[in-house]
Amino acid sequence: MKQYKAVIFDLDGVITDTARYHYLAWKRLAESQGVPFDEAFNEHLKGIDRMGSLDLILAQSPRAFSDDEKLALATEKNEHYKELIATMSPDDLLPGAVAALDACRAQGLRIGLASVSKNAFTVLERLGITDKFDYVVDAATIARGKPDPEIFLKAARELGVAAADCFGVEDAVAGVASIKAAGMYAVGVGDAGILTQADVVIPDLRGFDPAKY
Ligand code: BG6
Ligand code: MG
Repeated sequence: MKQYKAVIFDLDGVITDTARYHYLAWKRLAESQGVPFDEAFNEHLKGIDRMGSLDLILAQSPRAFSDDEKLALATEKNEHYKELIATMSPDDLLPGAVAALDACRAQGLRIGLASVSKNAFTVLERLGITDKFDYVVDAATIARGKPDPEIFLKAARELGVAAADCFGVEDAVAGVASIKAAGMYAVGVGDAGILTQADVVIPDLRGFDPAKY
């Protein structure tokens, strides 16, 4: 079996259930613009950065939006999202998350975080797990969001490990595509029927074992 040297985790929907908060914030925003919004549509937004997500939502509207209007709507969504995450604590870690990070550490793997969320540093602080990562990508430095491989390649480079010696962990279709485009092994977290491009899919991190990949 291959011996990986690093693991790169996504955050939202993998380590904590902020995917739910993004969903709630986008739903309110979409409905304020008369755009219908449900879980199925939300699935396409997972892993997609803020302006990219907004563009997908507004594409459902019959009217056009100026750049200023888009910026105002994105800010409105983000303010709502920030209210939703303000009360997060270590209790919001998903089951198995800390054990998964500790198992990677025990295995001698370097550990990175590749989230396109500009709120990732705040969420890590609230969860109390910032120091469990050797490197966290600053989403503000990424030009092309998932499914482009840029963010996973940057994490690998900063960890000092070749992409082929890394594996990624993701809950989003776009995220798994980003990992695969980076030339890494992909562990999907969620539904195997949705994450069809992943090399292996586990329902949640309770089933995560870095020695198996
Ligand atoms: C990703 C989420 O992690 O971050 C997306 O899966 C979200 O739903 C994206 O849109 C950007 O997050 P933020 O916090 O920068 O708006
Ligand atoms: Mg995610």
